[in-house]
Amino acid sequence: MAKIINMYTCQSCGTTHPKWSGKCDDCHEWNTLVEESTAAIPKSLKHNKKTAPLVFTSLSDKDTPLTRYLSHIDEFDRVCGGGLVPGSIILVGGDPGIGKSTILLQIAAKLSENHECLYISGEEGRDQIRLRAQRIGVEKASVELATGTNVSQIIASIKTTTPPQLIIIDSIQTMFVDHIDSAPGTVTQVRAATQELIRAGKKNGSIIILVGHVTKEGAIAGPRVLEHMVDTVLYFEGERGHHFRLLRSVKNRFGPTNEIGVFEMTGMGLKEVTNPSSLFLAERDEMVSGLAVFAGLEGTRPVLVEIEALAAPSSLGTPRRTVVGWDNGRLAMITAVLEARCGLNFSGKDIYLNVTGGLKISETGADLAVAAALISSLLDIPLPSQTIFFGEVGLSGEVRPVQQMMLRLKEAHKLGFKKAYFPKSRDIKTPISSQTVEHLEKLVHYIKQLN
Ligand code: TYD
Ligand code: MG
Repeated sequence: MAKIINMYTCQSCGTTHPKWSGKCDDCHEWNTLVEESTAAIPKSLKHNKKTAPLVFTSLSDKDTPLTRYLSHIDEFDRVCGGGLVPGSIILVGGDPGIGKSTILLQIAAKLSENHECLYISGEEGRDQIRLRAQRIGVEKASVELATGTNVSQIIASIKTTTPPQLIIIDSIQTMFVDHIDSAPGTVTQVRAATQELIRAGKKNGSIIILVGHVTKEGAIAGPRVLEHMVDTVLYFEGERGHHFRLLRSVKNRFGPTNEIGVFEMTGMGLKEVTNPSSLFLAERDEMVSGLAVFAGLEGTRPVLVEIEALAAPSSLGTPRRTVVGWDNGRLAMITAVLEARCGLNFSGKDIYLNVTGGLKISETGADLAVAAALISSLLDIPLPSQTIFFGEVGLSGEVRPVQQMMLRLKEAHKLGFKKAYFPKSRDIKTPISSQTVEHLEKLVHYIKQLN
């Protein structure tokens, strides 16, 4: 019998440590180490000496093309790479209360028109789920509902003769494998439960969607510890105060990553938002300084977002720099470049930067729009409302091209924008009036001319 060794496992990243400490050395999260026993390898994972030899094929051998099940919720199908692949395992992570159960119930309801779908909840009672189904108007769908947390019981209940095409497990943190001592929600349990479910899913060709709550405290393992085990990882994001939600693919063995699907949480469930730019652009009659529209790219799709900047006199010795939805370090860099290369002075000013609608931008292509918003606020010169900006700023102040410039310009044209400021690049035939900006100094010059 294997010796039982107690180790301390980080519930955030899954690293094991021989000793307890307040901070995980690997992911630097605090208070995430929990004592777990490591001898608890599920019985079925142990080597079986009687297994059949592997079958080798060549790379050129043709497999049958992938079939995909469509939910006809286009935003979801696109994020999955064009529909769900039979036998694939999908992890849907997100903060508690963001709407994971809601969207999955909607998907199950749609798919149940043509496929057999099971919805297994370890968190809510049947009545609660039925109430939700009524609320979103899918109570007539032929989704089969069950509540349960024991993985062996769940697997035993799946018919192997006519296996279901889709099984939703809400959530993986409530599931447990009974031959493991650790409590449900710990890294060991969550991994073992996933392993068992994956095995059952792959054997039967069922799609398994696992819900994983993103947790701030260390007591429950987060979905990150499962990312390597599943085929597709989707994160459902959004700000509590805002009603829109983003479904983002961060890993996909059957399609592109970084694709986003936009939804709006309404009183009757989640609605697709087919034109996301309309969501992030505030309608204004008056011109205000400090506002610039960035033509961004989310996955393969262009999205126009508004960036707001405010440079206000500071009473503090060290002025405040507050950023929402963008990178703090990047803001510091842009202000430094504007000061050093363009002669602007931000000292003695608090700077607030906000990406409207609660979107988080990670693209460096937003640099030019951020710079434009900052210059506009500092000089108190409003930018014309039907203008877009994009381009990456270097430390010397030069503005560099970004990917998919034509796509961004076309989206702006479609939404009625009249003018674009962007870096010089060959082969760009813009559909709208354009102004190339090779250096930030030029941008400052253009903005001053608007006055
Ligand atoms: P839920 O799907 O239960 O979140 P999760 O499974 O990620 O924890 O969604 C919960 C929130 O969504 C809850 O605060 C209520 C809200 N909601 C709506 O606004 N409209 C709706 O139609 C539904 C079903 C939920
Ligand atoms: Mg839920």
